[in-house]
Amino acid sequence: MSKIHHTVGQPLAHESARLHVTGEALYTDDLPEQHGTLHAALGLSRRAHAAIVSMDLSKVRAAPGVVEVVCLDDVPGEKYVGAYVHDEPVFADGRVQYVGQPLFAVAATSHDAARRAAQLAEVQYRDLDPVLSADAGAERESYVLPPVRISRGDVQAELGKARHRHQGRLYCGGQEQFYLEGQVAYAQPGENDEMLVYSSTQHPTEMQGMIAHMLGRPLHTVRVQCRRMGGGFGGKESQSWPFATAAALLAWRTGRPVKLRPDRDDDFMITGKRHDFSASYDVSYDAQGVIGAVSFEQRLRCGYSADLSGAVADRQVFHTDNAYYLPAFDILSLRVKTNTQSNTAFRGFGGPQGILCIEYALDDIARRLGLDPLDVRKRNFYGVDERNVTPYDTVLEDNVIQQLVDQLETSCDYRRRRDEIRRFNADSKVLKKGLSLVPVKFGISFTATHLNQAGALVHVYTDGSILVNHGGTEMGQGLNTKVAQIVAEEFGVDIDQVRASGTDTSKVANTSATAASTGTDLNGKAAQDACRKIKAALAAFAADQYGCDEQHIRFQAGQVHCGNRVIPFRELVQKAYMARVPLWSSGFYKTPKIHYDMKTLTGRPFYYFVYAAACSEVVIDTLTGENRLLRTDILYDAGRPINPAVDLGQIEGGFIQGAGWLTSEELWWDEQGALKTHAPSTYKIPSVSDCPDHFKVEFFDNGNTENNIYQSKAMGEPPLPLAISVFLAIRDAIASVAELRADIPLDAPATAERILQTLDAVAPGRFSLAAGSRTEADMAAEPMELSAGPSGGTVQ
Ligand code: MTE
Ligand code: HPA
Ligand code: MOS
Repeated sequence: MSKIHHTVGQPLAHESARLHVTGEALYTDDLPEQHGTLHAALGLSRRAHAAIVSMDLSKVRAAPGVVEVVCLDDVPGEKYVGAYVHDEPVFADGRVQYVGQPLFAVAATSHDAARRAAQLAEVQYRDLDPVLSADAGAERESYVLPPVRISRGDVQAELGKARHRHQGRLYCGGQEQFYLEGQVAYAQPGENDEMLVYSSTQHPTEMQGMIAHMLGRPLHTVRVQCRRMGGGFGGKESQSWPFATAAALLAWRTGRPVKLRPDRDDDFMITGKRHDFSASYDVSYDAQGVIGAVSFEQRLRCGYSADLSGAVADRQVFHTDNAYYLPAFDILSLRVKTNTQSNTAFRGFGGPQGILCIEYALDDIARRLGLDPLDVRKRNFYGVDERNVTPYDTVLEDNVIQQLVDQLETSCDYRRRRDEIRRFNADSKVLKKGLSLVPVKFGISFTATHLNQAGALVHVYTDGSILVNHGGTEMGQGLNTKVAQIVAEEFGVDIDQVRASGTDTSKVANTSATAASTGTDLNGKAAQDACRKIKAALAAFAADQYGCDEQHIRFQAGQVHCGNRVIPFRELVQKAYMARVPLWSSGFYKTPKIHYDMKTLTGRPFYYFVYAAACSEVVIDTLTGENRLLRTDILYDAGRPINPAVDLGQIEGGFIQGAGWLTSEELWWDEQGALKTHAPSTYKIPSVSDCPDHFKVEFFDNGNTENNIYQSKAMGEPPLPLAISVFLAIRDAIASVAELRADIPLDAPATAERILQTLDAVAPGRFSLAAGSRTEADMAAEPMELSAGPSGGTVQ
């Protein structure tokens, strides 16, 4: 082996790690404020569905410090925006469609003054009938987009003649993104109708477009920048728009800089969340648990507008197979319109919801047949050379699920622990344990083919330092770190010589959202392309200067090797500059091979798949419904990881975020359609103490069969659905007290309340004297390990 120092593949610290922990990292709200900056607040609807009879804003205008108030009539350009369908009025248009919908915006001399003024609006409503749940909307055929159905084979006939058949249903709640940095925009008007907007957004180009259309101005007058976000998790893929447009409109009207930073409660009330859904299924299988035919009806609560719901629902459909071959299937996806926040992207983007459907059904099958769920799963896996066609007609080419799951099964000691848990449960009256091993296959690429493109700009300065700018946004996931590693690798220089700068629509144009886990794949390749153009120019120059073969010039360890000559990178750069060689370049990338018919949902929507599996062990308290995650082992196919440290953080974080979705995070709307869980006091995200004591994440040794950047694979979203293992382990623990009941009707999230309800449904007599001999002495004797306290978990 030669002593090549590689940057790609190193577990380097996040490029802003030091700034994050010292508090020096600048988020949008930390930017120095310009003189004369105004602060804005939004006035929100208090009704779920109503006609606006009158809206009197005179008290708002007269409030202390108020400078400007705007509503829909004040929008000079397009009054409706939207990610795909333009069905979202910038402010309510004659009627309100959910509690929290912005009615107007006010700009005042202080944040406090603006918020106080916004409360003074006098609005008269005439209530209309609201649709609040996906089921209620489906009954009325109230949709934001038409239903989509994909099928193969004669499913009804197959189901009809099957010896084993099961019909079930499940409900799964939504999830608030709960980015630590809330939504925020800061708009600064410039000369000649220019507008600069700092927006905490995953999609600067879309914000630029919406602001420009709303102002009726060409795109080149609007510039959007984002240095970093304190998390986006999909919640800033499209829904940074109400804040960006309102701040820009107020800045345009007043000619003054305007900052809009809603507080957490308003953020919760205004923006959409992960889609909650209900699903029903009908499945046939043989005595071994192998699925013959299956039908699903999925009803997603989309909220009042289409937003990204079409693509989310498509991705749910695309992930309903997960790792399993479905010989005959029929999947009907309903995109239900309701009078609630417009549900949107959230890590996984419908994928986790699709995977949950099939995993839930597979567990039913296993329980009904008295088989171990892992065996049933394995028998249904996609094959390598046969049984390898997905419901959307893609032939799987990179399937490693069988080997990966076998490896995890052994390394986590699945079979032995299964026996141990059985014994534990037989002896333990109150505490019951459960175990589940769940695989994940996750498709990488935006399903909308055209979004799979990216641009970058690389500058090599005369001192050899390098600046890279690309279309992706940094939200904590380490994209800039990885792109900088790629650039350093290309030039063979130290990582300290490379810096990534903030996202800016005036540097790279027409970018896609940083989403679908494609940030590094797309922007890394675009940056690599730019580097290679510069290297080609430098190599041609060096060959000419030093008389070596241009084809064999290598950039390594800060040096350029040209025949027998070794020239320091910096020296070559200086010489090249003097010789008028261009030292900067743009780069471009588009994902090859993908295509997809949006009408039939067939083709190759994904460039490649990520494979992973998790095994989780839980304990529940059958008296209180409390649960605790004891142990999780994850095996993840990251290809050749670009940064194993950052990637490990993504897997751990994504998994725990998924566990929050399925166990503790509960969104609750009252009967009038008002969201009542709109702050951390009532909405519980996991904390570090919710991590299991034993939390082991390992990389599966595998390359990427496709020519993805440095043979890596995406890391952002696929870890999240691994947390389905936690949910199903809880269901397994409940099943242990309900020996005669095959069906465990547990909905998500599995809060203490729901666990208790399910226990009461399936094992109502579990503590009665007739059923057992539980005494107070028994209860006192058993250690309550659930209340493990703050030392409960550590992340390694
Ligand atoms: N990690 C952090 N720390 N913060 C985030 O907001 N978003 C997730 C994931 N990991 C997110 C994150 C989501 S929803 C996506 S799509 C990917 O990061 C986007 O970044 P990538 O494509 O660069 O992986
Ligand atoms: N994933 C994430 N975000 C998206 C997608 C997708 O497939 N399509 C459009 N936005
Ligand atoms: Mo991620 S949900 O694709 O922003």
